[in-house]
Amino acid sequence: MSDAYTEGSLEEFVERNRIVPNVVYECILTTGAGEETNAAPMGVVFKNGTVVLRPFKTTRSYKLLMRFPYGVLNFTDDVEVFYAATFGKEGCLNELLTASMSVPAPSLANVYAKLEFVVGRVEGEDGERVTLSCNVLRAFWKRRDARPYTRAEHAVIESLIHATRIKFFLEHGMMQEAMQLALLVKHYNALVSRIAPKTVYSSVMDRIMGLISGWGLPRLFPSPSELQEYQERVNCDDEHEDYSAVGRKYLAP
Ligand SMILES: Cc1cc2nc3c(=O)[nH]c(=O)nc-3n(C[C@H](O)[C@H](O)[C@H](O)COP(=O)(O)O)c2cc1C
Repeated sequence: MSDAYTEGSLEEFVERNRIVPNVVYECILTTGAGEETNAAPMGVVFKNGTVVLRPFKTTRSYKLLMRFPYGVLNFTDDVEVFYAATFGKEGCLNELLTASMSVPAPSLANVYAKLEFVVGRVEGEDGERVTLSCNVLRAFWKRRDARPYTRAEHAVIESLIHATRIKFFLEHGMMQEAMQLALLVKHYNALVSRIAPKTVYSSVMDRIMGLISGWGLPRLFPSPSELQEYQERVNCDDEHEDYSAVGRKYLAP
């Protein structure tokens, strides 16, 4: 892959990279100004010549964007970088930060595309999230060679995004929601162990599983009968109260 970036308009970026409007793509959003910088995975949608972000109000990314309305959308398929931007911010992430061309926020080095933007307007707001419409100031991308598809990449990214919600749910006492996502992560872990053992994918999965266990989900592996019991209760709307009882049983030390 060539190391040089091509610069072009947002329209050219969308066309050359075969971006489909209204699809959520995953990137690493870098924000901040001066000493204060941040990086976090974030979904982005390309819509009507703008890029649309939906940060949770609790995120540092959102708070920084409200103070310094500039950022960079960094596109990578490196699962280690996704992990570092989510749960390893004190680690090697700082070494990956580099100055941007037109905005005070930093960018990530070695990504295959970056879009430097300014927040245009707040499009909407619900209880938890804000919808921000952003204008791209400069777009850079590298030519990419063909990459065969692997389910492992997607399993790891799904697990990582679920892990961020599991953490939130546990912090807010939402045990049944946490359990449902933990079971999905368990499924992806089994998949990655099968299709990509002893690889960067299984290594990141191990770290995600380790983190989740440390958050108070020590029994992430319910027996088949416990699983069946849990799923029967989830399917039964009027027994809502009982979900957490089953969840507590899984979590018993
Ligand atoms: C692939 C992926 C996509 C994510 N998309 C979003 C998103 O669209 N909005 C959001 O607020 N958080 C999203 N998250 C969760 C945030 O990255 C996570 O809460 C992070 O800790 C926020 O960091 P910050 O507080 O430093 O901004 C995503 C996480 C992953 C792994």
